[in-house]
Amino acid sequence: MKIAMVASEANPLIKTGGLGDVVYSLSKELAKLGEDVAIFLPFYESIKRKGTFINEARYVGEVSVNLSWRNEVASIYRLDIDGIKYFLFDNQRYFGRDRLYGDFDDGERFAFFTIAVIFAFNALNFIPNVVHIHDWQPGMLPCVAREWNLDYLRNTKYILTIHNPAFQGMMPRSCLGDFYSLPDYLYDDGVVRFKDQLSTLKSAIVYSDKITTVSPNHRRELLTPEGSMGLNTILSLREFDFMGILNGIDVDEFNPETDKRIPKNFSKDSFIEQKKINKDKFLTNHGLVDHDKALFSMVSRLTWQKGMDIIYPTLVKILSLGHNVFILGSGEYHYEQMLEDLRRRFPNNMAIFIGYNDDLAHEVYAASDLFLMPSLFEPCGIGQMIAQRYGTLPVVRLTGGLYDTVIPYDGSNDSYANGFGFYNNDANDFANLMDHVLGVYYNKDLFNHLVKNALSLDNSWEKSAREYLDLYRSII
Ligand code: GLC
Repeated sequence: MKIAMVASEANPLIKTGGLGDVVYSLSKELAKLGEDVAIFLPFYESIKRKGTFINEARYVGEVSVNLSWRNEVASIYRLDIDGIKYFLFDNQRYFGRDRLYGDFDDGERFAFFTIAVIFAFNALNFIPNVVHIHDWQPGMLPCVAREWNLDYLRNTKYILTIHNPAFQGMMPRSCLGDFYSLPDYLYDDGVVRFKDQLSTLKSAIVYSDKITTVSPNHRRELLTPEGSMGLNTILSLREFDFMGILNGIDVDEFNPETDKRIPKNFSKDSFIEQKKINKDKFLTNHGLVDHDKALFSMVSRLTWQKGMDIIYPTLVKILSLGHNVFILGSGEYHYEQMLEDLRRRFPNNMAIFIGYNDDLAHEVYAASDLFLMPSLFEPCGIGQMIAQRYGTLPVVRLTGGLYDTVIPYDGSNDSYANGFGFYNNDANDFANLMDHVLGVYYNKDLFNHLVKNALSLDNSWEKSAREYLDLYRSII
């Protein structure tokens, strides 16, 4: 089966969040299962700058794209990584900059990309059986392909995966004609209109054959007014074509038994001594003094979505009790400042790294006792699964995929619990949970038992990739 993944990020070339992990890991797994998989991606300046792989990229053709009066060319480069074909779309005007998102012309940039990809299917003679689009950026693809009535795509089917419902690809009505050469009546009749704007995400929901999101629980949330940012009104019309498929993690990259980026490898039979070695080394490296106390960590974008608004009382409580906190991430300036202030107040207990650092992330997962994830919403979440794989117990708000992946210890389920959880988006609930968490931390046998449960989990991609494959097969 020919599968085209169309997305705005994909590892190992470019990633700003979980989307980049998923597009790559799922494609790799599908290729392993024998499918012909290609990833279509903008050729951002930041990919070129990074250099790795880029010398091997070869020019394979070009397509010209007219967005009304704008005539632009996309030069297409191909790279092969892990059995996946990557097609990179180069255009100086739209992608010759560092940032992926956040510019005034994002709508136009991804419209250009979307249409270039549609033309490229023909130009490259890669006619997909299934086009799998991710999030809002290529959201108009099924709509354009269907409304333009392109003969070479007459047998092609479309899947949309929603990774983040907060980004809905909203733009003025005029963009429909201006970027996509589509008639106004699609807007006026309400087909692509959402909250009185054009929404590429809504259009994708309407025109795709099947829709998925990244956990079964988030699927349920997306069908309710509270959890869906308004999308429930549209998704409920497609309820029977809408599934939740849980993401996996890359168990080769994240393997405590072989990971070269951590000081001491360990398994579920040797973690008690070995994880302690990782912790001691980490605490020493970062100037944290009390090795008998717990190490709580976060690896996260520092944004409202990740629960940064309710985290302060919990951090103060942990630190005041003499425990250690390490936070790796970057994001909104005021959250970074809040953490910096705390670090100054508790210099012996808290360390932070503002930025993104893969090597350090591996060390954090291997060294920590507990991993904080109080997300406001979390369609799947990857950090909690990586933490479990390294025997670090997640402490999460039980929302979205966190609910599906973390079984909170409730005082009696020690034979299978693998973390801790709270329900309400409430700073006090989170802080109060720490009494329970620390109670367990000081009961070493119980704590180690829960760690062992976490280390025994299988969150590999294989199962999910098979579910996607079944879904593709059901429609072609
Ligand atoms: C988005 C979601 C996150 C999910 C990821 C990959 O970043 O916020 O919960 O894990 O996409 O699907």
